[in-house]
Amino acid sequence: MDLSSFTTRMDAVTVDELRAGGGSKWSRYPDAIGAWIAEMDFGIAEPITEALLRYVRSGQFGYTTFAERSEIARAFTEFADRRYGWTVSPETVRPTPDVLSVLGAMIDHFSRPGSKIVLPTPAYMPFLTLPALHDREVIQVPMLREADRWRFDLDALAAAFDDGGHILVLCNPVNPLGQVLTREEMLEVADVVEAKDGLVFSDEIHAPIVYPGNTHLPYATLDERTAAHTITATSGSKGFNLPGLKCAQAILTNPDHLTLWKRRCVMVEEGASRPGLAAGIAAYDEGEPWLDTVLGYLDRNRQALTELTAEHLPEAGYVEPQGTYLALLHLPSLGEDPSAVLRSEAGLFLTPGPALGDAGRGYVRINFATPLPILTDIVERIGRVVRDAA
Ligand SMILES: Cc1ncc(COP(=O)(O)O)c(C=O)c1O
Repeated sequence: MDLSSFTTRMDAVTVDELRAGGGSKWSRYPDAIGAWIAEMDFGIAEPITEALLRYVRSGQFGYTTFAERSEIARAFTEFADRRYGWTVSPETVRPTPDVLSVLGAMIDHFSRPGSKIVLPTPAYMPFLTLPALHDREVIQVPMLREADRWRFDLDALAAAFDDGGHILVLCNPVNPLGQVLTREEMLEVADVVEAKDGLVFSDEIHAPIVYPGNTHLPYATLDERTAAHTITATSGSKGFNLPGLKCAQAILTNPDHLTLWKRRCVMVEEGASRPGLAAGIAAYDEGEPWLDTVLGYLDRNRQALTELTAEHLPEAGYVEPQGTYLALLHLPSLGEDPSAVLRSEAGLFLTPGPALGDAGRGYVRINFATPLPILTDIVERIGRVVRDAA
């Protein structure tokens, strides 16, 4: 698909049109412009629409078939090979409804009873709340902020394992930081995990959304140790904008884990939906031209944000993301939860920083997968509120 016609089309989309679409991002807070939940305002790829129409017209809304399950595994492995150079056996790729159900299954069936979850923060919000639903405690390990990068606190990670941690939750590309982790950063984490006999839940849902100059490196591919201590979860849901269709993948690179998964996690696999599988297969097989066009549009937005924040929010510490369509803005002059002020004063809803963990106080997370004129309006509104508060 041609980027310039896509850009012309997307730049003309209005808030009213988006709200009329009825999705979560635009309907949950009808009084506000939504820049919170990780949905994109760009629709979906044509081959996915066609696959869904074929599915609807079949009139067969039965259970998922074995053929569809092996097709999604095949399609993912081919996509992973083309996109990340990851050669992975389709046998290790298991269907699940979403990424969080993989974390839930990992806690229930793979972790030491009563052990704690080690979580670098700021983090994707449900990582902080889901463990409690499995009677597990989270140990937050705040990352260390440098001028243009957040670093893992390796000593604090080690201490968290000593304090009863077993599963470390790693998210790459990092929601909410937009960082694409380097081999060196991940190997340092891997050393700690190995030394402490830990496991890694590697959430790579944002892996398709990586900007030029950056490369997604699947954590399980670093070496034999990471392949053995990791369960990876990914999905076409972020890259191809399909989260409501319920189709993700768990990749079990440790053969013992795979055996246990097949024994215990049958019902998790049953949760993947048939339309989700149809969409996911079409996405991985035929969605890349659309994905690359969207990446072009998002790349322009992330660069525009650099200029917009420099002009309107010079103190916000915006760092141009290397991946994802999410970024953090530091707005401590609006209090611990700037999102509350932005909602009441500017008619905006952005993800509250405190929901990302203690390290998120004073921040908001912005979703920039929106038409550029709307993004511009959002940043100008934030700028006005920050100036008024000064
Ligand atoms: C890092 C991360 N993990 C998991 C999810 C959940 O996605 P899904 O429900 O499609 O699995 C999201 C959604 O925003 C996310 O950003």
